[in-house]
Amino acid sequence: MLGNFTYSNPTRIHFGENALDFLNEELPKFGKNVLLAYGGGSIRKNGIYDRVVDILRANGKTVLEDAGVMPNPTVAKLNEGCRRAREGNADLILAVGGGSVCDYAKAVSASAWCGDDPWEKFFVRMEEPEDRIIPVGCVLTMVGTGSEMNGGSVISNPESNRKVGHVFGDEVFPKFSILNPTFTFTLPRHQMVAGFFDIMSHILEQYFSGEDDNTSDYIMEGLLRSLIHSTRIALNAPTDYEARSNVMWTATWALNTLVAQGKSTDWMVHMLGHSVGAYTDATHGMTLAAISLPYYRHILPYGLKKFRRYAVNVWDVRPEGKSDETIAGEGLARMEAYMKELGVVMRLRELGVTEAMIEGIADGTFILKGGYKVLSREEVVKILEESL
Ligand code: NZQ
Ligand code: ZN
Repeated sequence: MLGNFTYSNPTRIHFGENALDFLNEELPKFGKNVLLAYGGGSIRKNGIYDRVVDILRANGKTVLEDAGVMPNPTVAKLNEGCRRAREGNADLILAVGGGSVCDYAKAVSASAWCGDDPWEKFFVRMEEPEDRIIPVGCVLTMVGTGSEMNGGSVISNPESNRKVGHVFGDEVFPKFSILNPTFTFTLPRHQMVAGFFDIMSHILEQYFSGEDDNTSDYIMEGLLRSLIHSTRIALNAPTDYEARSNVMWTATWALNTLVAQGKSTDWMVHMLGHSVGAYTDATHGMTLAAISLPYYRHILPYGLKKFRRYAVNVWDVRPEGKSDETIAGEGLARMEAYMKELGVVMRLRELGVTEAMIEGIADGTFILKGGYKVLSREEVVKILEESL
């Protein structure tokens, strides 16, 4: 049953090859001081930095540089960004980059004027912001996380080996996001395919929950079919605009809160993946890839009907004359073949995980209750061992 809900998404999206022009329309809505957050330098190499700074200057903005946001942004970087935002009295945080930069911008947005320790408040005690929030805008350069149209912000604490996401409310969602598919053309293949799998994982985390006749499930099957189709084209032709634009839009819809309506949602692959990331600093999408199949094979008996439906509706498995178990198993086998086609990481070992880390990774895994099976600690360890 869909149940009762209020639905809105406050992020305005500007999509397409001319999307950056809309920065001129957005900037006048905010004050003079813009904290320009970006990563390790890809935007300087591909020219996006110069284009953005030209537009900021033409709009009379003071640019406060905040470079060096790393993949899996850390608490130390967050604290540094908060200082910069306060000192420069930032009126807008403009994130130019992938999910890490967008997540970081949202964390700074809520934390810069927070009277408390942001890590403790938002990522340990999971409280809501009470102080001034600085608006965020995004120019997306890497596709996968959906951070451009949601309130999610994932921060890593290397000292305590924890990687934790806070889902902020409407006021921290980006006010606008600029999505130009050509900005993603310079991504290294490894990052491109990690993003592809991240999108698939976001959809599956929501799809594999509940057993109702739910509109969200039909939307997700459509998103998955579009994703599989377009990523296969993009693999061979990374600059195919149609394919890359479809993937970009699918990523946004996969995690902008729409398809979660009426779903309890699982998110255990992400909980395991985040804990792996906390220990290894591995690429997010690859942590999910290494865990997904052992996890789904483990919970399949508890959600058999849905795994059967997945096989038939997403992977075109012919059901005639087969048991539900066989059909469901064939669906996962087709998913495995697709993952190998993408070339994602299939084993945690490839990400630097060792046997000695398993207990610690299990300790750092939050066990959620929305999926087909609430895992015990022993099951967490077993899935990690099977993923090794
Ligand atoms: O730092 P630079 O030099 O910019 O290089 C980046 C980075 O090394 C590079 N890159 C980005 N755009 C590029 C490019 N290189 C060439 N050309 C371009 N156009 O790609 C690398 C990875 O970027 P990153 O932002 O880290 O990747 P992604 O978008 O996958 O973000 C990952 C982070 O988002 C979190 C993850 O946990 C991780 O911390 N997530 C956020 C979510 C959310 N907000 O809802 C949900 C996700 O499940 C995820 O947990
Ligand atoms: Zn993800």
